[in-house]
Amino acid sequence: MTNILITGSMGQVGSELIDYLLASYQGEILATDVRKVELGDKNERIQSEILDVRDASKLNELIDQYHIDEIYHLASILSAKGESDPFLAYNVNLSGTVNVLNSSVAKKVKKVFFPSSIAVYGPEAKRDDAGTRHDSIPTTMYGITKMSSEMLTQYYHRKYNLDVRSIRYPGIISYKVEPTAGTTDYSVEMIRSAVKGLPYTCYLREDTKLPMIYMGDAMKATLRLMNAPQENVKVRTSYNIMAYSMTCKELENEIKTIYPEFNVSYVPDSRQEIADSWPRSINTEDARRDWGFDPSFDLHNTVLDMVKNLKVLIH
Ligand SMILES: NC(=O)c1ccc[n+]([C@@H]2O[C@H](COP(=O)([O-])OP(=O)(O)OC[C@H]3O[C@@H](n4cnc5c(N)ncnc54)[C@H](O)[C@@H]3O)[C@@H](O)[C@H]2O)c1
Repeated sequence: MTNILITGSMGQVGSELIDYLLASYQGEILATDVRKVELGDKNERIQSEILDVRDASKLNELIDQYHIDEIYHLASILSAKGESDPFLAYNVNLSGTVNVLNSSVAKKVKKVFFPSSIAVYGPEAKRDDAGTRHDSIPTTMYGITKMSSEMLTQYYHRKYNLDVRSIRYPGIISYKVEPTAGTTDYSVEMIRSAVKGLPYTCYLREDTKLPMIYMGDAMKATLRLMNAPQENVKVRTSYNIMAYSMTCKELENEIKTIYPEFNVSYVPDSRQEIADSWPRSINTEDARRDWGFDPSFDLHNTVLDMVKNLKVLIH
């Protein structure tokens, strides 16, 4: 039996990860967030608590109280919100991660998952097929905290033998919870607008190309990494994953195969600068070799599945 604590469990990723964890683990799940945790149809194996990850003593208490074996540390201030409040991002993302790593060592937590981001690359990084190891400097506060956290995860693994594993997620497309704080949110917003029959104004240029993945593939990759034998996990900073790269216009065109009348205009705002500092595609060879990363959804299938599910949710 493995008992799991999730931080930031009410976000775009956490609200979906809970179901994947319930399906693959026998133990109990403690869903935490700084805001009230809504669990809907409550499963008897899930409990909830308010937890601000900056509060180390409450984190320690919860680990003891719920006999936690693994932590999925999702709590974060994302890229766009991080640029509007850089010091909040600094505190939550860095202090929160240090607290999780320290508590995990002190309380002998067996495994920790940390999601990093393509924001660790800076504008001087290779734009296409950017590799796991790189020497570019991120320019956003979000990227700076993610890069520093990756270095900390590697440090805690080396110094304290903590089994902390990490994936650099690209933009994640999903339908259950609307993303609200990232730079790739436009992808979900654009599909939602089409399903609602509304025009969409995109805050990035139409030729902006970024790496992406569908939520199901991101969750399967996360569990595959976490269940891989320890000796297979060779990268202790963070593994790159992506399923496809797309421009905003390519997404619009794909949506138009279903909704030919759909109208998109492009009015770039401050998020364009963030997107321009990220790579167009990233190299996933390490993840494929070490633990069998193998996404199933391409852009076409992502849009089909999103539309099918959003039609049920929205209408
Ligand atoms: N969604 C993506 O496209 C994407 C891409 C790359 C990386 N990631 C990473 O994946 C993780 C989850 O992302 P997400 O999309 O679910 O983000 P999200 O913004 O949807 O959710 C983050 C959650 O963290 C919570 N939170 C904020 N401050 C907190 C604090 N002080 N203490 C505890 N909880 C706090 C928020 O209430 C929210 O529920 C993050 O670490 C993010 O950086 C996400």
